[in-house]
Amino acid sequence: MDYLQINGGKKLSGSITISGAKNAALPVIAATILSDKPVTLTNLPNVVDIRTLLKLLTMLGGNVTHEDTVAYIDNSSINSHKAVYEIVSQMRASILVLGPLLARFGECEVSLPGGCAIGQRPIDLHLKALEAMGAKIEIKSGYVHAVAPEGLKGAKIIFDKITVGGTENTLMAAALAKGTTTIINAAKEPEIVQLCDMLASAGVVIEGIGTNELIIEGTGGEPLTFPETEIIPDRIEAGTYLCAGAITNSSITLHKVNAEHIRASLDKLETMGFGFDIDNDTVTIHPAETIKPVNLITVEYPGFPTDMQAQFMAVAAIADGESLIEERLFENRFMHVSELNRLGADIWLKGSTAAVKGVEKLYGADVMATDLRASSALVLAGLVAEGTTNVRRIYHLDRGYDNLEGKLAALGADIARKKEQK
Ligand code: UD1
Repeated sequence: MDYLQINGGKKLSGSITISGAKNAALPVIAATILSDKPVTLTNLPNVVDIRTLLKLLTMLGGNVTHEDTVAYIDNSSINSHKAVYEIVSQMRASILVLGPLLARFGECEVSLPGGCAIGQRPIDLHLKALEAMGAKIEIKSGYVHAVAPEGLKGAKIIFDKITVGGTENTLMAAALAKGTTTIINAAKEPEIVQLCDMLASAGVVIEGIGTNELIIEGTGGEPLTFPETEIIPDRIEAGTYLCAGAITNSSITLHKVNAEHIRASLDKLETMGFGFDIDNDTVTIHPAETIKPVNLITVEYPGFPTDMQAQFMAVAAIADGESLIEERLFENRFMHVSELNRLGADIWLKGSTAAVKGVEKLYGADVMATDLRASSALVLAGLVAEGTTNVRRIYHLDRGYDNLEGKLAALGADIARKKEQK
């Protein structure tokens, strides 16, 4: 198994380019199931989760050619409607094939994803929405069995809770349903906007894109034809590198960023004393005189994202004062706290709030990655910790960060991927 070895204390400088967004690419790949014509996707990030979902398409009978950042997908040949446990258990987002498979073929079987390190993560809201659209759903032997022999029909769906994946599955199902679907309390993350834009580019009429109320006119079962689709920049990757600049108090430049998408992170970094230059799709972070503490609460977009909580905690760990960080979206998303404390951080956890008392120095140690974003927080901490930090179980990082060690090394970090000795 690989691990990352980081010798901390180096200032960073220079520039890197941000990759396409994993969380935008996943629903876009799933949406290609709604088409029986070839689709070209560009600016895909080179990460394991993308390869996993493309593999699932080939297992369903689709034809996929994937090179670097481009995939050519032809789903005219899909002949299986079953997403098996072996794939879904590797990546929860595989549940995104549920809506499009059901919409295009009138039946599907998708393994239940189960819980994960950051919490229970149920899919009840996805299922309720599809049932409202006429699907008959049964859960048996760990699988969701869904059928809609007459096809799905438009419905009014009010989500009890804002759900990104639930909104995506419902959108994709609604695109091929008969009649109008209204989604109230929909998620409005940039990834949802990208999916709406993609569906709209295939002729699906959607009102309210970028708002909490979406109205979709379905095609009544007619498959879609998509033009070439370019994946939007990854706002979480961009935010993570801004935190790399912040924690090392360095000036670095990121290219291919949508600054609008990272407003909440920029705002919090500004509170912490950092400066910025923003020019079109380029963002440069400038060092702070003193790194100030910050209070933040994770909420839905455009608020502060839960996917940036761990990285900000790493920066807060060396701030001059006490920060309060409240996690509102996932009940168990603090697995990085004990690992950061192993590096010398002073973080105290009570319920869903972490009190982070800034320390003068962190010290290198062996730490364990527990989930994707928690792992990146440990890498960030390693960049400033005195001595050597080994971050183990980095398969979590490989799921979602395109060439993390390469990009950090290009900025001047002393970081290398090593093989665990047997
Ligand atoms: C997506 C992102 C993930 C991000 C999260 C919140 C992808 C692939 N993943 O995950 O990186 O952290 O949004 O921004 O895009 N919930 C229910 N029932 C449901 C569905 C969700 O109770 O049927 C709850 C969840 O447990 C959670 C909250 O709703 O507490 C939000 O989850 P959701 O927005 O659905 O997250 P994901 O789409 O899984």
